[in-house]
Amino acid sequence: MSRLVVISNRVAIPNARGAAGAQGGLAGALQAALKKHDGIWLGWSGEESEDPEREPHIQTNQGVTTATIDLAPQDVEEYYNGYANSTLWPLFHYRIDLTEYEREFGKGYERVNDLFANAAADLIEEDDLIWVHDYHFIPLGERLRAKGLKNKLAFFLHIPWPPTRLLVSLPYHERLVRTMLEYDLVGFQSEEWLESFLHFCRKELGADVDEETGRVSLGERTTIARAYPIGIDYDHFMAQGDTDEARQAYDSVVASTRKRISMIGVDRLDYSKGLPERMDGIARFFDRYPEKVRDLVYIQIAPPSRESIDSYQDIRETLERKTGQINGALSCVDLVPIRYVNQGHSMAELFGIYRASKIGLVTPLRDGMNLVAKEYVAAQDPEDPGVLILSRFAGAALQMQDAILINPHSADDIAHGIRQAMDMPLDERKERWERLNDSVREDNVAEWTRDIIEDLRALET
Ligand code: F6P
Repeated sequence: MSRLVVISNRVAIPNARGAAGAQGGLAGALQAALKKHDGIWLGWSGEESEDPEREPHIQTNQGVTTATIDLAPQDVEEYYNGYANSTLWPLFHYRIDLTEYEREFGKGYERVNDLFANAAADLIEEDDLIWVHDYHFIPLGERLRAKGLKNKLAFFLHIPWPPTRLLVSLPYHERLVRTMLEYDLVGFQSEEWLESFLHFCRKELGADVDEETGRVSLGERTTIARAYPIGIDYDHFMAQGDTDEARQAYDSVVASTRKRISMIGVDRLDYSKGLPERMDGIARFFDRYPEKVRDLVYIQIAPPSRESIDSYQDIRETLERKTGQINGALSCVDLVPIRYVNQGHSMAELFGIYRASKIGLVTPLRDGMNLVAKEYVAAQDPEDPGVLILSRFAGAALQMQDAILINPHSADDIAHGIRQAMDMPLDERKERWERLNDSVREDNVAEWTRDIIEDLRALET
């Protein structure tokens, strides 16, 4: 069986605190994929060094072999904070207002892609399947081809793909997207992002596109583009429920909320997650139903993310202000309506916290998929399941139609969703949960990996 070489910016650190909500879904998903396949995972060590060693540091932990390299501060500034997270991330999340186009960012991005292509080329053997992940490494496949690599190459995008009319605002957009056609297989989280990609290829690159099969042909190259919605590592996540850590977390939420309904949100502190808008929705709920102030407590777990970037500092300040305002206006000596927590939590703790929470509130403005929604469902008690409120703009909404789907920009919609969740009878909660849980269990990360690898293997290149 051929080895799998996975390349992503973030590599899971063993025993890192947090499930999908705290560290993003990518790291956990790839760790699960590599536990099942022989191979190696190349990425950034997360370290900065003035004189970085370019030789990868190889180690094996919990059955997964990683090869990591350090980056220079200028690389981190221009590639990670710059092009990846101040240009592509906001643009791909439809936030053209936050998108920065700096020439230096583009140069840093290309330089770091070259660096990873060099490191990867040294690790890759003839029959290896290569699987590149996310917006940090869009041109990596092209760099590998330029080195003469003939291996099968797949790329997967974990975030949305923007509509063509937004993407054309990116300088050199054609050049960037053209590099994607060097991959044999390109995967997206949902049909919506796939359609936008195919549209761009046809309109802007003049490629021959077959919508049925996802075949995109340009000159000599043919690429297959498909949607592969990612899932959670279901068995591993469910096993967390049997730990003391999960039971303790469950007990502490139940004991500290007593007769109140607890509602949970778990998100990286990112403007794409719609956190200020969510607070407006909660404020609207209390405004409309003041008699419910003693019945509901909202727990927001929001580990800070990408803290050197201004827009992330701004979102944190906005969220703190809004949370403070709501608590200031509605708290009593014995009650605080919103618990705002910046620390990350272990997967087992999150399992317990989700299970103790009767409402899961997941309201991103745009999200490639959102695995918190799936984890929340998986952790529920089948005899008394909680209700998921989900943004219709998360990739997960296409698969999770039995959630209460809301528009995250509308405070009224969020407030109404909370009321509906609080009032939902047990029978309806069970019916909705069973359908949601079936799909979370079946469309899990193992299936996702298998589908992509099988498709890649089967391609004639
Ligand atoms: O899932 C999208 C993603 O951007 C991943 O690529 C990334 O690892 C994760 O979110 C968390 O972001 P970061 O690695 O920048 O902390």
